[in-house]
Amino acid sequence: MSTDTANRIHIEKATTSKISQVDFNNLMFGRVFTDHMFVCDFKDGKWQKPQIMPYQAMTIEPSARVFHYGQAVFEGMKAYKDEDGKTFLFRPQQNFERINKSSARMAIPEFPQNYFFEGLEALLKLDNEWIKPGVGSSLYLRPFVIATEPAISASPANEYRFMIICSPAKAYYNEPVRVLIAEKYSRSADGGVGFAKAAGNYGAQFFPTSLAQKKGFQQIIWTDASTHDYLEEAGTMNIFFRINDKLITAPTNDRILDGVTRKSVIQLAEDLGIDCEVRQITVKEIKEAAKDGSLKEIFGAGTAAVISPVSAFEHAGDVFEITAADKSYAQLFKSTLLNIQHNLSEDKHGWRHEI
Ligand code: COI
Repeated sequence: MSTDTANRIHIEKATTSKISQVDFNNLMFGRVFTDHMFVCDFKDGKWQKPQIMPYQAMTIEPSARVFHYGQAVFEGMKAYKDEDGKTFLFRPQQNFERINKSSARMAIPEFPQNYFFEGLEALLKLDNEWIKPGVGSSLYLRPFVIATEPAISASPANEYRFMIICSPAKAYYNEPVRVLIAEKYSRSADGGVGFAKAAGNYGAQFFPTSLAQKKGFQQIIWTDASTHDYLEEAGTMNIFFRINDKLITAPTNDRILDGVTRKSVIQLAEDLGIDCEVRQITVKEIKEAAKDGSLKEIFGAGTAAVISPVSAFEHAGDVFEITAADKSYAQLFKSTLLNIQHNLSEDKHGWRHEI
């Protein structure tokens, strides 16, 4: 860290570390947090001096607007360590740009780029022991912004808190997932906030997803709100369909998150000589392809999920099991991505960001 950065961030180190209490071989996603957190408040029209402090509970007034109007956005990113102990982020500029895009949509002031990167770097240096080497291990980073102003008039807050918390992670889904295609509920609408990582986008999925879970499906593949004919995204991940040797994924728009893993898969497909069509795809097309045997794979792509194969889908009472493809694209993309992230292969697009 440069002296300049050190001056910019006030750092209070934890007196003891919790790391010895953590079983890194049995991690449940997002349950354990590192020793430190990054905090920066917005008030009097500007972002104040950033701080890093021991991870701890904090006091926010019950009238803070985040509790009443859900004025909150977040990001998901990961830090990786290679066998030599070097630490990397994966395409962090994309997360930086997206959190500000999400913030703009939620009337939250944009966060400065130097604070974002300096905060991440300082935090990852302090909590570096928490990043374990080895493909499949990572430190999940959760930057987020909440409206903290104690005022319940229904208008944008004048005070916010930007934070980064960190949680050691393995794969989000350990097994291939069974998914239900949405017929009744919707995740997003034209002109809405579906493209943003707004907290409410996720909370609104919990109820329909819990209904799907009761039927034995872990996730919903969301369809367009007006016709439910077009396949969009899976809520915690973007979704890809392989018909014969061709990959298809929906174009991003107002309703679909512009996933970093999604855009990386599209680029890797080009690198690997795999035809990838970014176009609208209907439920009908997928059901027909499942019936005639040309649907070879479905997989999700996301930071937490990495690449998660889908083993079955249901729509209108029809259930289709998908048998794992020989030479699976999901496996190929997963290993190609992880190798780049863990510094095991060439990084021809400059996606790794060394800390
Ligand atoms: C991520 O992949 O980082 C996400 O934000 C998904 C999350 C809801 C677990």
